[in-house]
Amino acid sequence: MYSVGIVGTGSYVPEDVLTNADLEKMVDTNDEWITTRTGIKERHIAKEGVPLSELCYQAAIRALADAQVSPEELDLVMVMTVSADYAFPATACIVADRLGAKRAAAFDLEAGCSGFLYGAATGSQFIATGMYRTVLIIGAETLSKLVNWEDRSTCILFGDGAGAAVLQRVDEGYGFLSFELGADGGGGELLIVPGGGSAHPATAETVANKLHTIHMAGSEVYKFAVRVMGETAVKALAKAGLAKENVDLLVPHQANIRIIDASVKRLGISPDKVIVNVDRYGNMSAASIPVALDEAVRAGRIHYGDIVLMVAFGAGLTWGGSVLKWARKGLQG
Ligand code: ACO
Repeated sequence: MYSVGIVGTGSYVPEDVLTNADLEKMVDTNDEWITTRTGIKERHIAKEGVPLSELCYQAAIRALADAQVSPEELDLVMVMTVSADYAFPATACIVADRLGAKRAAAFDLEAGCSGFLYGAATGSQFIATGMYRTVLIIGAETLSKLVNWEDRSTCILFGDGAGAAVLQRVDEGYGFLSFELGADGGGGELLIVPGGGSAHPATAETVANKLHTIHMAGSEVYKFAVRVMGETAVKALAKAGLAKENVDLLVPHQANIRIIDASVKRLGISPDKVIVNVDRYGNMSAASIPVALDEAVRAGRIHYGDIVLMVAFGAGLTWGGSVLKWARKGLQG
C-alpha cells in the first residue's frame, strides 16, 4: 500500500453574509442566545439560483492551483454533500465537467457532516492500492436551501461553503495514518430531511408541511456529538499509534462551540491547538472540516510533519476521525 496525503487545499464561501442581527428580524431570536448557545455570529449564504456545484467548482480550482495539478490529471472527483444540485445526476459529474477533468470518474458520497472524512478515507484507498494517482475530494453544502427559515431552532445554525483537497501519493510514513469511521442508522430520525425522497416523495402536502427542510432533535444530537467526538478521536489516535500529546493541530467539525469545547476538554488537548471558525461560518456540514483545514494551511498553522487530528459527527448518524501527518510533496514524474 502506498502512503497517501493531501497535496493541496482550497475553499470558497459565498459572499453574502447573514448575521445574528439579520436573523433577529426573521425569527424570534437574539444575538445573545445564538452566541451563548452556539458560538455562531454569522454565516455565508449562497444567492438564489447559485447551486452547490458552483461552490464546489470555486473550491476545486483553488485546491488544484495550490497542488499545481491540472484538471486533466484527475483520476477521480468526489463530492461529499447532503445538499446536491439534483437528486441525480451526481454533483461530482457536473463539477468534473466544468473543471475539464476529462479522464476522471466522478461520484457523490453522503455521510452528513462526517462526509469529508468518509470521502478522504474512500478517495485515498484508490491511491493506496495503486489504482489511481490523483483524486479530488470536495466537501460542500448549500444548507441554506434546505433550512426552514421559520424554525428558529435550526435556521440559526447552518451556513454554505465548500472545501476541497487534492490527494496523491506522499513520502512513506506521511499522509493519512488512520481512519476511524462509524454509523448508527438507529439515530437517523434525529437529523433528517424527511420529504422529497422515496419514503415521502414530493407532493403539495409534503411541501406545505415543510418535510423538504431540516428537522433536528437538537439536544439529542448534542449529547451524541459530545460523546462520539471524544471517543472517535481517541480511537483514530490509537489506530495511528499516537497519543493526544502528539497532536499538533485538532480540526474538529464546526457545529457548535460548546460541542467543540466539551470535546476538547474530554480529550485533554490544549485549546490553542484547536482550529475554530464556527463563529464566522456556522455549521457548514461536510464543508466544515475542509474549509477549516484550508484556512489553517493558509494561516501557516500546519507544517511538514505536523500531526493533524480531524474528527466529525453528523446526520446518519455518522462519525469519523482521521490522523494525518502533513506532507505537501506530491507524486513526482
Ligand atoms: N433563539 C431563542 N430561543 C431559542 C432558539 C433561538 N434561535 N432556538 C431555540 N430556542 C429556545 C427553545 O424554544 C427553548 O425554549 P423553551 O425552554 O421555552 O422550550 C430554549 O431555547 C432551549 O432550547 P434547547 O433546544 O434546549 O436549547 P439547547 O441549549 O439544547 O441548544 C442547540 C439548542 C443549539 C440546537 C443545541 O441543542 C445544539 O447545538 N445541538 C446540536 C445541533 C447540531 O450540531 N446539529 C448539526 C449536526 S451535524 C449535521 O449533519 C448537519
